[in-house]
Amino acid sequence: MTTPHVPVLLAEVVATLKLRDGAVYLDGTFGAGGYSRALLDAASCRVIAFDRDPAAIKTGGDLSARYRDRLTLIEGRFSEMESLLKPLGVDAVSGIVFDLGVSSMQLDDAARGFSFRADGPLDMRMSSGPSARNEKPRAASSSCIDETPRSNTIPETASTPSGLSSDSISENRPSISVSRSR
Ligand SMILES: C[S@@+](CC[C@H](N)C(=O)[O-])C[C@H]1O[C@@H](n2cnc3c(N)ncnc32)[C@H](O)[C@@H]1O
Repeated sequence: MTTPHVPVLLAEVVATLKLRDGAVYLDGTFGAGGYSRALLDAASCRVIAFDRDPAAIKTGGDLSARYRDRLTLIEGRFSEMESLLKPLGVDAVSGIVFDLGVSSMQLDDAARGFSFRADGPLDMRMSSGPSARNEKPRAASSSCIDETPRSNTIPETASTPSGLSSDSISENRPSISVSRSR
């Protein structure tokens, strides 16, 4: 069952922003719209909200209808907000909120592959692009996973921030052997 997302720190965020009537604010991670709604209710302001998940933008349709021209929803990544804002002619805003992570809706839908509770396909996509299932072989062959055996050695010439010699490190940490590096 999909449960609505309950945002934490909402009161703190609203208090910190000191929202003003007529000002423009950005919500970088719309989700179920909890932050956007709180901003719109706290002042007669405008909110432009982004989410890379098309499902979040779709379900946000009701909210944007309710707030009419005060809420604009944009499907896209917050990293691209500058270019996404250009067509709207917005080049300055009074505040930006981010509620980073996954939403309850994404976690609750086992088919999306984020769930901790239910089995699902290894997908984990928030938007279009390769699924985690397709990413796996690429990651395994990249330099992120280095399977080269390590010998736990410190070069004799190595200097340390505290000025300790490699010999004294060896005395204090017997599990590390000191040898000349190749
Ligand atoms: C924790 S939820 C936000 C919940 C929201 N504050 C609310 O009250 O319902 C995080 C949202 O950020 C979105 N997201 C994650 N990475 C993103 C990105 N790079 N750009 C835009 N949205 C992103 C996810 O799709 C998800 O809907």
